[in-house]
Amino acid sequence: MMPDIRAFIRPELRDLKPYVNLRQSHDLGILLDLNESPWDREDKSNRYHSDFSALTAQLATLYGIASDEILLTRGSDEGIDLLIRLFCRPYYDAILICPPTFSMYRFYAKLQGITVMETPGDCENIKILFLCSPNNPTGHTTAPDEIFELCQKLAEKAIVVVDEAYIEFSTTESMTSYIQRYPNLVVLRTLSKAFGLAGLRCGALIAHKQLVQYLRAVLAPYPFSTATIQAAMDATKPACVVALKERVRCILTQRKIMQTALTALCCVKKVWPSEANFLLVEFNDAKKIYATCLENGIRLRDVSNEPGLENCLRISIGLPEQNESLINVLRKCV
Ligand SMILES: Cc1ncc(COP(=O)(O)O)c(C=O)c1O
Repeated sequence: MMPDIRAFIRPELRDLKPYVNLRQSHDLGILLDLNESPWDREDKSNRYHSDFSALTAQLATLYGIASDEILLTRGSDEGIDLLIRLFCRPYYDAILICPPTFSMYRFYAKLQGITVMETPGDCENIKILFLCSPNNPTGHTTAPDEIFELCQKLAEKAIVVVDEAYIEFSTTESMTSYIQRYPNLVVLRTLSKAFGLAGLRCGALIAHKQLVQYLRAVLAPYPFSTATIQAAMDATKPACVVALKERVRCILTQRKIMQTALTALCCVKKVWPSEANFLLVEFNDAKKIYATCLENGIRLRDVSNEPGLENCLRISIGLPEQNESLINVLRKCV
């Protein structure tokens, strides 16, 4: 039986209407409706960019879903924020996370007075389960069967969010094609990683169309600039997707090379298997390695304060020559 999505939503937001955009970007004539500046700029940035339908359609095709099953967000970070705001009542509800994992689930929950649980325990008020697959910073994926089971088990209770920021680097199947089967399933995708557009701040929240409609109501009006929309359109055209696949292949080759090279170093204790564009590495002395790399102009991510990740650093896969520079520095470390 299909769960009533409305029942998940904070009661005071159930009847919130989305901001109504009364103008399409192709509307011409004398535009005196939005209190903009009348002096037209070449890039039209004096106007609010109010029509995202072309980019929405292009990304929907890319992800193999319908246009009403996707909400464009300012990075998947904003998707996380919107989900917590729509479903969780401050000082009452909770989210469930599986540490070590991406820090922003906790950040946005804390920002709104939402409890963060690390085990299901006996909390009746868990409204969202955040799964990160491939997981940042460990690089492992959650098996689709496990996700289906969770969606079923939580069907009447909570939303299951699968953050697929790194899915393009993985052999695990994306969950986007299961949103109709599981109305409490939400998938987060982003242009920041494999598409190489982190500075653009463009992500996508993919879910059952009814859920997308509710989420649209909590999204700020005119979230994207004209330039962002244009750049995202250009970068996700079919021809660019071919180039993207080539880059992903390069990262995967380099990941394998780095895995082997790092494993052979005497300062390294363990290299975690990864399905993303980074490797989690346990060193004999992570603080020392971090400092040495910094002295040599190489920035790594210190995750050693995360639970269970003592002496671990996260290393993004770079260009071949960048990776080689890192290995050369690490060869001199013990
Ligand atoms: C797992 C995960 N989700 C989401 C994000 C945020 O991505 P975006 O740039 O789309 O906000 C990141 C960024 O590092 C991430 O690692």
